[in-house]
Parts: sequence; structure tokens; C-alpha cells
Amino acid sequence: MRASDIQDDLTEVLVTEAEIHAKLDELADRIEADYVGEELLVVGVLRGAVMVMADLVRALDRHVEMDWMAVSSYGAGTKSSGVVKILKDLDTDISGRHVLIVEDIIDSGLTLDWLQRNLVGRGAASVEICALFRKPDAAKVEVDVRYVGFDIPNAFVVGYGLDYAEKYRNLRDVGVLAPHVYS
Ligand code: XMP
Ligand code: MG
Repeated sequence: MRASDIQDDLTEVLVTEAEIHAKLDELADRIEADYVGEELLVVGVLRGAVMVMADLVRALDRHVEMDWMAVSSYGAGTKSSGVVKILKDLDTDISGRHVLIVEDIIDSGLTLDWLQRNLVGRGAASVEICALFRKPDAAKVEVDVRYVGFDIPNAFVVGYGLDYAEKYRNLRDVGVLAPHVYS
């Protein structure tokens, strides 16, 4: 498959790379203002948040430390069940630390709700969330997300780190996956 064929698998582009970068600059300004004088540990959730992490931390004009977690939601099918398994844990002791979780997308909210509670339980000084995308119509639990990039419709989206069967993560824009791809 040629790279340009990837575009043909989208029914529409929802958010362009330029729009994402502009939004991350805005979020970075808010984060800088909110954490003045505090050390900050930014935790990326593998694998989807790789692109958001890379661009967000470079938009921050301050020191940050970075760490990573990988989690998977158990359950039948593709929907999150709320039962979360840690596949890769932090390498950092977060007790007393200000932690900012960086995630690609909030769907039901179950994964991040669990993750936030888990990190709070380790004695972090604070645990806030930055999610590039959120699907308000899919929410099953209210998650307190301090930094949200874009509210999007309840469709399956790919690109900018978001995958379908591990592909499309390298697409620069974010778009809706065409039904012909998965049917
Ligand atoms: P919950 O439902 O727990 O799930 O908020 C969040 C995780 O589900 C994945 N997810 C998606 N991945 N396109 C994707 O590529 C989507 O539209 C989508 N919606 C949810 C994602 O891994 C996220 O971390
Ligand atoms: Mg994810």
C-alpha cells in the first residue's frame, strides 16, 4: 500500500495536523500557567499518546519529566470494560509528585477514570488529565479532564497516534475510518 492510499480509507478528516498543533500550543500555555513553581511529571499512555506527548512537551517552555504507562482494558470486543490491566508500569515513584496524564482519546472514560484513581492511590500530590480528543456522547463515567483538545462525534477515528488494528497511527491528520476498511 502506498502512503497516499491511507487518505482513501477516511470518510472525512475531522482535525488537521495544523489544528492539532495550534490546540496543543494553547493547552501548553495553560499548563505552564497552572504549574508555575511546581515540578511536573508528564505520563504518556502508550501507544496512542505518543504523538500527543511528543508535540505537547515540545510546546512547553519549561522543564518536565516524562514517563510512560501501557494499559489495556479487558472485556469482550473492542469496547472498554473498565477492568484495566497494567502492561507497562511507571519507572518513577510518584508519591508527592504533580502528575499530568497525557492520553490520545477519551471514549467511555473508563480507562482514564481507573488510571487517575490508581495514580492518586500511589500518593501523588495531584493527578490531572490532558486528552487530545473526547467523545462526549460515549461517556459512561464523568472523568475530570482538565485539558481537552477537541470534542468529537462518537465515530471511530484514526491518525495522529490513533490506530485501527495498529495501523494509521502515522497519519498526520485525524479522520473517520471508512466502513469499507473494517467490513
Ligand atoms: P475508554 O472507553 O476507556 O477508552 O475511554 C479509551 C481508549 O479506547 C481507545 N479508543 C479509540 N482508539 N479510535 C482509536 O483509535 C477511536 O475512535 C477510539 N475510541 C477509543 C483508545 O485506545 C483509548 O485510549
Ligand atoms: Mg489509548
